[in-house]
Amino acid sequence: MTRFDTIIIGAGAAGLMCAAHAGPNTLVIDHAKAPGEKIRISGGGRCNFTNMYAAPENFLSQNPHFAKSALSRYTQWDFIDLVARHGIAYHEKTLGQLFCDHSAKDIIAMLLAEMSPASLWLNTTVKEITRNDGYTLRLDREGRDVTVTAPNLVVACGGKSIPKMGATGFGYQIAAQFGHDVTETRPALVPLTFGDQQKEAFRALAGVACDARVSGGGTAFEEAVLFTHRGLSGPAILQISSYWRETEAIRVNLAPGVDVFGGLRDVRQSRGRVAPATALAEVLPKRLAQDVAERAGAQGNIADMNDTALRSLADAVEAWELYPIGTEGYRTAEVTLGGVDTDGLNARTMESKSVPGLYFIGEVVDVTGWLGGYNFQWAWSSGWAAGQAI
Ligand code: FDA
Repeated sequence: MTRFDTIIIGAGAAGLMCAAHAGPNTLVIDHAKAPGEKIRISGGGRCNFTNMYAAPENFLSQNPHFAKSALSRYTQWDFIDLVARHGIAYHEKTLGQLFCDHSAKDIIAMLLAEMSPASLWLNTTVKEITRNDGYTLRLDREGRDVTVTAPNLVVACGGKSIPKMGATGFGYQIAAQFGHDVTETRPALVPLTFGDQQKEAFRALAGVACDARVSGGGTAFEEAVLFTHRGLSGPAILQISSYWRETEAIRVNLAPGVDVFGGLRDVRQSRGRVAPATALAEVLPKRLAQDVAERAGAQGNIADMNDTALRSLADAVEAWELYPIGTEGYRTAEVTLGGVDTDGLNARTMESKSVPGLYFIGEVVDVTGWLGGYNFQWAWSSGWAAGQAI
């Protein structure tokens, strides 16, 4: 039996960050063959590692106050300092989103350097966890039975998104074993899917992208929308997926900030002998303009359309109501919404309120960020908070 001060389950963003602060006699275990696999593939291989504007308002949780303490004590600026100290070049892509210039692997290498001399055991699964004075874990380490023990156990095994990459939902099982509630979990930051008829229409638009304002679930995002063979994707759709619920509509404005009705009236007055799709193509991609004109049943030339007809054409652009039937699910979701109920955790330390020495950090907790570097910031902040407390 090997004794450690702290055992961390999960060598992802939160677990590695926690290991960097939890002290030298720390063991990090992961069933994967490499650490930080999601970091590696994130941001198209460049890792959108934080957001300059990260604030508690950018996170969803049953308790919107829970994330405040950790986010304010280990901020995006602290992480940016760390990145800079390691000489990792980065840039802002858009909306405060910071990406590595070179590779997401730079962030993994940085975290591994920061966490040394803690131990990292890969290809290791947990067979059993028991608690007496501390925590005893029976492990399968590369085919060998090993038992380890520690007074502190940190659960950092992420959520259910992308099972192909090793996501298991194991953290929720550990929470349940120790009497913690888990709020309803669902795929988030995920493309939306549609019924056959709508899907068929989207298929003709596959590959078209445009900036849009997408509203639903009491909120709205103005970012790009992408039409795909399966439905709708793109940042604005991924964002709204965290707020959308089954049977609800989403509303899409394909030309935010544009007075479409006024523009169409101007066209009618100045050069009315153009087709509706041609007029719309001044503000929309051509294929989309054609689709909108057909959907609105616009016929003839703009000159033939009265104000009512122009208004309904403008509405087809600005107030497109759509009813998704679902999402692409955990297969493609960037994160899991919901998780270990924050009521049972100390917001300052991430420690269980009922089970001393047990901590939950990162995505396994019911704190979910928007798209744009917020989820990694939560992993860094919560990992740091637990590491400090230990
Ligand atoms: P994370 O999932 O990183 O780590 C969990 C670890 O636990 C994994 O290493 C896993 O192998 C291990 N594990 C799981 N079950 C286990 C078990 N039973 N036994 C042992 N180990 C186990 N966010 C962002 O801010 N910017 C971005 O650019 C992106 N991009 C992005 C792209 C894609 C494709 C995805 C899927 C996700 C993102 N994200 C993101 C989200 C981000 O990756 C996510 O929020 C963090 O990785 C969460 O960090 P955690 O450490 O909590 O979990």
